[in-house]
Amino acid sequence: MTNLVYLNGEYLPQAEAKISIFDRGFLFGDSVYEVIPFYNGVGFRLEEHLARLRRGLEAVRIRAEEDWEQICQTLVTRNGGGHQAVYLQVTRGADTHRVHAYRPDLKPTVLLFSYPICMALSGDPETIEGIRAVTTEDIRWQRCDIKATTLLGNIMALQQATDTGADEALMVRDGFLTEGSACNLFVIEQGRIATPARDHRILGGTTRDLLLELAAENGIPWTEEPIAEARLARADEVWISSSTKGVLPVLTINGCAVGSGDKGPLWYRMAGLFKAFEKTVFGLEPNA
Ligand code: PDD
Repeated sequence: MTNLVYLNGEYLPQAEAKISIFDRGFLFGDSVYEVIPFYNGVGFRLEEHLARLRRGLEAVRIRAEEDWEQICQTLVTRNGGGHQAVYLQVTRGADTHRVHAYRPDLKPTVLLFSYPICMALSGDPETIEGIRAVTTEDIRWQRCDIKATTLLGNIMALQQATDTGADEALMVRDGFLTEGSACNLFVIEQGRIATPARDHRILGGTTRDLLLELAAENGIPWTEEPIAEARLARADEVWISSSTKGVLPVLTINGCAVGSGDKGPLWYRMAGLFKAFEKTVFGLEPNA
């Protein structure tokens, strides 16, 4: 497989792609990004990912208008098709020196690369492993709805989790759950799914929205509501979701079992619906 990247209008071998040390994405994290899975060459919720990208660009006033879909598709095809994740980043651009205030005429830097992935939830749900999580304080900024590359708060939370042998951090702000370090969060009580509302405290996940659509279509009740951290102790199931992971059950939180401590019945149902969706959209068995 070739390994081309897209940088500012050109498809280049990775080693030839160079970015200025004065790029504001590098110096200030002044940039936004997306991670978009492609299965069998077809984008997963591509429109939703690109709509979120456009909203982020508008929110931070980076003016970059490209044919995103075409660039993603070309990159995936030229890198061999199949199952790949596309990483797409747009920075405000490179200045000639370091200064906080930005010049409105900077040319945004557009970078895309791709790498092979497995299909989310590939294989038999019986063999899918649940994850261990810990709760951490959500120390991030107040615009978590923007998919900014400024991810120190997320990285510190995840590091806190991995330091204790856990896989993921579930973040808590003012006593209420927000999301995972790189995923959204669902709490299941008596057959009902609860998840925090899409506001400035969380990233509105494309997978999260798909799960809620699948739930609605299949008569599984769900609500968007503030979820106090204390509810984790009484929950029957807890799940996380992201584009690259699909939906995964959380089996322990802070070392205590969630519900029965095993994958729950509603997770099995949702995993089945998710896999059926994948089969319809990508036209192949999820474990292909
Ligand atoms: N992250 N919340 C956060 C903080 C995330 O970083 C992500 C995804 C999500 C889930 O969004 P989606 O379902 O659209 O992937 C929620 C990606 C995968 C990443 O940063 O690699």
